[in-house]
Amino acid sequence: MAVIELRGIRRTYRIAAQGAKGKQNGAFVVKALRSIDFSAEAGEFVSVMGPSGSGKSTLMNILGCLDKPSGGTYLLDGIETSTSDSDTFALIRNKKIGFVFQAFNLLARTTALENVELPLFYDREGRRADKTGRKNGEGRRAEGRKDRAAAALREVGLGDRMGHMPSQLSGGQQQRVAIARAMVNDPAFILADEPTGNLDTEMSLEIMALFQALNRRGKTVVMVTHEPELAAYTRRIITLRDGELVSDLPVAEPRDAAADLARWKQDHAQLSASSEPEPQEAEA
Ligand SMILES: Nc1ncnc2c1ncn2[C@@H]1O[C@H](COP(=O)(O)OP(=O)(O)OP(=O)(O)O)[C@@H](O)[C@H]1O
Ligand SMILES: [Mg+2]
Repeated sequence: MAVIELRGIRRTYRIAAQGAKGKQNGAFVVKALRSIDFSAEAGEFVSVMGPSGSGKSTLMNILGCLDKPSGGTYLLDGIETSTSDSDTFALIRNKKIGFVFQAFNLLARTTALENVELPLFYDREGRRADKTGRKNGEGRRAEGRKDRAAAALREVGLGDRMGHMPSQLSGGQQQRVAIARAMVNDPAFILADEPTGNLDTEMSLEIMALFQALNRRGKTVVMVTHEPELAAYTRRIITLRDGELVSDLPVAEPRDAAADLARWKQDHAQLSASSEPEPQEAEA
């Protein structure tokens, strides 16, 4: 079954045009998305590309249930989202989608483990669960949350950093905490908006290797990127232009990020070894 199914998705923005002396002077319409048809099966790894203003963020907001389309239908894991009320819409967002942002968006004075636990505080109705522990069985539930968060952190290779604050972690590690947080609810798919935009080459490769590993274990990932080098690690690339989906192509042979990372580290080690000054003999 398709995890994501968009049919004829449109999104228009109406802007009031300001005339002289601030007078309202009619309105114009921006067609940010014009009838997008797109579907993704479970286990896919898709890049969304396209020039600035082509509609990528608009599409992400709709896929992430942060915004509703002006027309068309969006089935997420078989659920029709466009007709759902705002509570259901929020519930779908919390349960079905794991978000990874360019800026990590971790809580600063909160440990890695607690950051990853956060999505688990939403109960079935999508409200924050009682944290005071008065509810029957809350102790057991709290333990269950900790276990799940710890397992997610181990899965992203941070089993030994659970008690660290974000400021005590590298950028790549912070993004891995964010990925653990995105996965902890076992969402239908992970939505990543330029997840390596704030990271250097080595950390970007680490993050791409992690997404590839998760994807090989069956996670569905949709990632916005401006960089063809990064899209080359995914399995399918869709391209938007002027609000239209202009191409949808499989990646014949996705690059292996872990292998590229190993090569990068090796080259880098050689480079820094050759640029190091000759060791000086200590004066007697
Ligand atoms: N809130 C808004 N109100 C009016 N117009 C908007 C709004 N958001 C986006 N647009 C317009 O919709 C179009 C698509 O914008 P969008 O942000 O989706 O582009 P993008 O592909 O994400 O670009 P970038 O690569 O620069 O982030 C643009 O023409 C933009 O000006
Ligand atoms: Mg954008």
